Amino acid sequence: MSNSDNRSGFTSKLGVILATVGTAVGLGNIWRFPFVAGENGGGAFLLIYFFCLILLGLPVVMAEFTVGRRAQANAVDAYKKFTKNPIMSRIGYLGVFAGLIIMGYYSVVMGWTLEYLYQAIVGGLTGHSPEAYGTMFSELSGGIYYPILLTIGVTLLTWLIISRGVQTGIEKVSRVLMPMLFIILIGLAIYSMTLDGAAEGLKFLFYPDFNDVTPQTFLDAMGQCFFSLSLGMGCLTTYASYFKKDVNLPKTAVQVISIDTLVAIVSGVIIFPAVFSFGVEPSQGPGLVYVVLPNIFQKMIGGRIIGILFYALLFIAALTSLMSLLEVVTAYVHEKFKLSRTVSSLIIALIVIIMSIFASLSCGAVPELQLFGKSIFDLFDYFTAVILLPIGGLTISIYGGWVLEEKILYTEFARNNKYSLALFKAYAFILKYIAPICILIVFIGSFI
Ligand code: PHE
Repeated sequence: MSNSDNRSGFTSKLGVILATVGTAVGLGNIWRFPFVAGENGGGAFLLIYFFCLILLGLPVVMAEFTVGRRAQANAVDAYKKFTKNPIMSRIGYLGVFAGLIIMGYYSVVMGWTLEYLYQAIVGGLTGHSPEAYGTMFSELSGGIYYPILLTIGVTLLTWLIISRGVQTGIEKVSRVLMPMLFIILIGLAIYSMTLDGAAEGLKFLFYPDFNDVTPQTFLDAMGQCFFSLSLGMGCLTTYASYFKKDVNLPKTAVQVISIDTLVAIVSGVIIFPAVFSFGVEPSQGPGLVYVVLPNIFQKMIGGRIIGILFYALLFIAALTSLMSLLEVVTAYVHEKFKLSRTVSSLIIALIVIIMSIFASLSCGAVPELQLFGKSIFDLFDYFTAVILLPIGGLTISIYGGWVLEEKILYTEFARNNKYSLALFKAYAFILKYIAPICILIVFIGSFI
C-alpha cells in the first residue's frame, strides 16, 4: 500500500518540469527520432507525429498525471485506488513489467554511449577509416565482458541516484543535468547549421515527402510518441505522485510535450546537416549515432570537442530517463514490500543487470539468443515500444475517460488555473473516444 504520509515530493515547479522533461528526453529523442523521421518521409512524418501528440500524447499524459497526483502512490497502487474492476485495477502491473523490460536494453545502449563518451575524451574516435568505425561498433556491441561491464556500471550509477530518493536523487540530479543538456543541445545545433550541407539536411528533415508514408508510418509515429513521452507504463503516473497540489497539470503537460518535441527536432537539426555536409547516407538506421557520427566528427573543425559534447548529451539524456524507469519499479517495491529505497532499488538493479546481460550478449557474442526471429535486444525494444506501450496507452485512456469519475478528472485538470470548461470538455472527449479509437485503429491496422 502507499505510504502517502511520509512520501516526499518534488520541492518546486522548476523541479517538476526538469525531472519530468528528464524522463521524457532520452535516447528516444536524440538517437531514435532522427532516423525514424528520416526513414518515414521527414516533414510528412513530423506532421503525423504532431497529430499523435495532440490526439494521443496530450490526453494520455494528462490521464497519467491525474491518476498519479490524485492517488499519491506508485503506479500499481495508483490504478487500484479508483476502481475494483479486475482488469482496470491492475494496469499498473503492466507498467512495472514494461519498465523492467525497457531497462533491460536501455542500459545496454547507455553502456555503449558511456564507452563512446570515454573514447571521445581520450581521442580514440579520431584517425580511423569509415569502415573502421563500423568495425569498432560491432566489436563493442558484439563483445562479451566489456559491454556487460559498461551496462553494470551505468545501472549501478542509476541505482546510486535513485537510492537517494526523490528530492536528493532525482530532483537534484535533474536540476544540474537538464540545463547542461539544453546548453549542449543549442550549442551543437548552432554549430551544425553553419556547415555547408545544412540546407540539404534541413530539407531532408522538414520537407514533407508523402511518398514515403505507409500504414507503418502511423504505427511508427504512435510508437515514437509513446516512447518519447515515457507514456503508457506508469512512469508519468509515478512522477505525478510526487507533484504538489498547486502544480498546474495541463500547463505542465503542454510544457513537457513541447520541450520533448523541440529536443527531438533540434537533434535532427544537429545530425542531418552534418550527415549531408559530409556526404553520408542519411537512412543509416540505429547505427547513425555510433557509426556515422564519429566518422563525421573526425572531419569537422573542432570535431573532438563536438564529439565529447554530443556523447555527453546522449549520456545525460539516457541517464535521466533510466532513472525514471528505475523509479517506477522502485516506488512499487519500496511501498509494497516496505523495504528501504536503497534495498528495493538494488534488487531491481540486479534484475535489470541479469536481463541486460542477455540483451547485450544477443547483440553479437551469442547470436543464438533469439526469440521469434529477433535478438533478445531487438525483442525487448519491439515488444515494449510497439506492443506494451500502446496497450498501456489504450488502457490508461480508457481508465481516464471511462473508469475515473469525471469529477476527479475535472478537479485535477482545473487546479490552480482558470481554463474554460469547454477546454476540459474537449479534453475529456478526446480521452474518452478519440484516443482509444485511434490507438486501436493504428494498432490493429499495423498487424493486418
Ligand atoms: N522517454 C524516454 C526516451 O525518450 C524513454 C522512456 C520510455 C523512459 C518509457 C521511461 C519510460 O528515451
